[in-house]
Amino acid sequence: MFRTKNCGELRSRNTGENVTLAGWVKRSRNMGGMTFIDLRDRYGVTQLAFNMEVNADLCEKARKTGREFVIQVSGEVMERSSKNKELPTGDIEIKVDAFTILSKAETPPFTIEDDTDGGEELRMKYRYLDLRRDPLQRNLALRHKLALETRKFLDDQNFLEIETPYLIKSTPEGARDFVVPSRMHENQFYALPQSPQIFKQLLMVSGYDRYFQIVRCFRDEDLRADRQPEFTQIDCEMSFVEREDVLQTFEQLARHLFRETIDVELPEFKRLPYAEAMEKYGSDKPDIRFDMPICNLTDEMKGADFKVFDSAAYIAGINAKGCAGYSRKDLDKLTDFVKRPQIGAKGLVWVKYNEDGSIKSAVDKFYAQDELRNRLAKTGAEPGDLILILSGNQKSMQKALGELRLEMGNRLNLRKSTDFAPLWVVDFPMFERDDETGQLHAMHHPFTAPAKKHESLLRSEPQNALANAYDMVINGVEVGGGSIRIHNRDTQEAVFDALNFTREEAQEQFGFLMDAFKYGAPPHGGIAFGFDRLAALTAGKDSIRDFIAFPKNNAGRDLMIDAPATVSAAQWEELHLKPLQNEK
Ligand code: AMO
Repeated sequence: MFRTKNCGELRSRNTGENVTLAGWVKRSRNMGGMTFIDLRDRYGVTQLAFNMEVNADLCEKARKTGREFVIQVSGEVMERSSKNKELPTGDIEIKVDAFTILSKAETPPFTIEDDTDGGEELRMKYRYLDLRRDPLQRNLALRHKLALETRKFLDDQNFLEIETPYLIKSTPEGARDFVVPSRMHENQFYALPQSPQIFKQLLMVSGYDRYFQIVRCFRDEDLRADRQPEFTQIDCEMSFVEREDVLQTFEQLARHLFRETIDVELPEFKRLPYAEAMEKYGSDKPDIRFDMPICNLTDEMKGADFKVFDSAAYIAGINAKGCAGYSRKDLDKLTDFVKRPQIGAKGLVWVKYNEDGSIKSAVDKFYAQDELRNRLAKTGAEPGDLILILSGNQKSMQKALGELRLEMGNRLNLRKSTDFAPLWVVDFPMFERDDETGQLHAMHHPFTAPAKKHESLLRSEPQNALANAYDMVINGVEVGGGSIRIHNRDTQEAVFDALNFTREEAQEQFGFLMDAFKYGAPPHGGIAFGFDRLAALTAGKDSIRDFIAFPKNNAGRDLMIDAPATVSAAQWEELHLKPLQNEK
């Protein structure tokens, strides 16, 4: 037997047992006549002890064993004289009497510790070493548990896990497709699925009633901390349901997952219409762990000869409670924050409600103290508070205030990663208009049904139609999104018309779906969760990268295997492709 125990399980009750362990050398220390090695495997760390006086040869060998060597040792479990309370195995050590080096190791390019000295690039290049680190092992174990509990819960609810193909035709989720050239069909390409959306709807037409899949999706879009070009969804669809059935089912799934993986009881899921989310929080995925709503001050602040406000279409502010003591420097920092191109405000107007009852503001010249207090009554400001005001175009300033709100939430430590505030954002518009082309785009995807009362608007004023769509948001993260679907050809055609598809284009791209609807489609709806995001969220982290074993970097590259890469001349030819000539 290679090992009789693992490195995480021995306790003082095992004292006196002879055991064999195998693992990696985490570190070794020489102390007088003794040498100690910390032996690591997935389960933990166990201290090995070598005594020069008892066995000089073994001790010499241990001293020559470097970090990350893979070794096998046998010996007796001994009670330690000085115990390590930090370590579950800290009460014992192994008095080694046999020792084999199974594999030598070069010095790793970074230390394999919880807090490593390795930079991001280096760790990505040597991802297999990074994955040895404890935090990553914990993340992947959490991910495994989430997948297992998802399957348990959905199986209990009669969902069937069914695989759908990866080599398909474009699915419209709003990102660019990754395409794969076909060798057998010259000048033709497969697209990798942005989601299994169309297939899961077809499975409903086929009568499978309840489907799910933990499935890889591919989207060629700009990457961020919460976006990877290939990511995983818990993709689900149900027949004979209305919105309420879907929301109830998946609220229960979320509750189950949080309870079983991190022992958290999620509070009530609030429901918030999209329009209200934008108005109050400047975001369609608001973080409601804290309040600090946006307060519209457009009418209140105009008419004081302050040109910036008088010419603005929209003026609004937030009340940062208890921040009246902010220094000039703090306020300059906040001003710089809102002026960053990503936020896009031209400036920031601040109003301090001092503890002594006086008011000091950046616009003292235009507003007398009492006047300002009256105009800002709506914000509920009290002595000690700081009001932060932005003005300009409504859509962009709402967003900017949303970002400023999050920044203040961070500064005031109101966004604790161990608090969870879930909600459903509902009543999304069916379409959004592209500011440049004036063209309507599906806000969710073109298979989303309109809200019942808005069905008639689809042909007359589609821009005003609301969708029967919903997003699950937790702590400002969009964890999942879905909708009740269109299940008849007429409504589907009306949506394609609104999206400016010709009949021929619609038929060419989605004819098979519209045809399927001719043969008896049940009313259906569903949702997909971002599985990587769910894993990061439950662990209280922002970046999904460390919850994916082999992720891509920000430029979409896998630095370890060096992909993407070119292919051989023969492959270019087989695929009927020609490399672009670099023009000098
Ligand atoms: P949607 O496009 O909203 O809906 O995607 C569902 C969820 O997937 C996650 N997600 C991502 N996670 C990591 N990296 C990405 N690039 C990425 N893109 C999306 C998000 C998101 O909420 N077919 C529909 C679902 C449906 O209607 O049933 C769909 O894919 O958490």
